[in-house]
Amino acid sequence: MSDGEENIMVVPQHVAIIVDGNGRWAKSKGMPRNYGHVRGAKNLEVICRDAYNMGIKYLTVYLFSTENWKRPKDEVDALMKLFRSYTKTCVKTARDNNMKVRVLGDPTALDQDLQDSLNLLVESSKDNTGLNFQIAINYGSRDEIVRAIRRAAQDCVDGKLAPEEITEERFSAYLDTAGVPDPDLLIRTSGEQRLSNYLMWQLAYTEFYFTEVPWPAFTKDDLRQAIEKYNSRDRRYGGVKEE
Ligand code: IPE
Ligand code: IPE
Ligand code: MG
Repeated sequence: MSDGEENIMVVPQHVAIIVDGNGRWAKSKGMPRNYGHVRGAKNLEVICRDAYNMGIKYLTVYLFSTENWKRPKDEVDALMKLFRSYTKTCVKTARDNNMKVRVLGDPTALDQDLQDSLNLLVESSKDNTGLNFQIAINYGSRDEIVRAIRRAAQDCVDGKLAPEEITEERFSAYLDTAGVPDPDLLIRTSGEQRLSNYLMWQLAYTEFYFTEVPWPAFTKDDLRQAIEKYNSRDRRYGGVKEE
């Protein structure tokens, strides 16, 4: 597609991605799963830039779920090591590409040095005005909702909030995604068609796009295809189509 044609596409403001298939991609190449994670992390950098160049304002990626602790210890350790180096690289990428980074999930289960690096990443990029990049790490939607309910309940106990004042909008402000608009498009790579505990509140009216392409092989063209498909959808939000 030429750049001229690209301009007539409606680019979703917020794209969320379940970056799945690192392990299977590596296995298909006769390599260990961790090689897939390394290549997957590299691809994040590439797709971030492509997404921004295409006009996407918010990109939210799922890097580690609250359920992923069930993986073998050596895989979890390798992932944590990778997140350490990724977080450090991301400080530079965010600076060079004007990205504002937020972290979704409960960081308290992560090692202190990783928490510190994540805080530095968020802090050092907070005034950037380009792509809003959310990384979900030790994230689970149920966990996020429970943590939000606890905070809201505490505010009720402290007399800062009355139960009848809790609206959808006020509740959203207790979630990790406070201030971030809901995703317009969700992409899951590598063939599975499930949410795996991702953004269940925020995805209430999001369009879903599933592709067989595993994450390390996912390219700008695949992203463009997802956006083209999104453009052919008839978003109704419960209403009827205008004649
Ligand atoms: C996604 O790839 C990355 C993480 C969940 C950390 P997987 O590791 O889930 O790869 P598959 O799905 O087993 O191929
Ligand atoms: C979802 O992928 C979590 C991330 C991409 C981080 P999984 O590979 O963990 O999901 P399941 O286990 O197949 O549902
Ligand atoms: Mg997987």
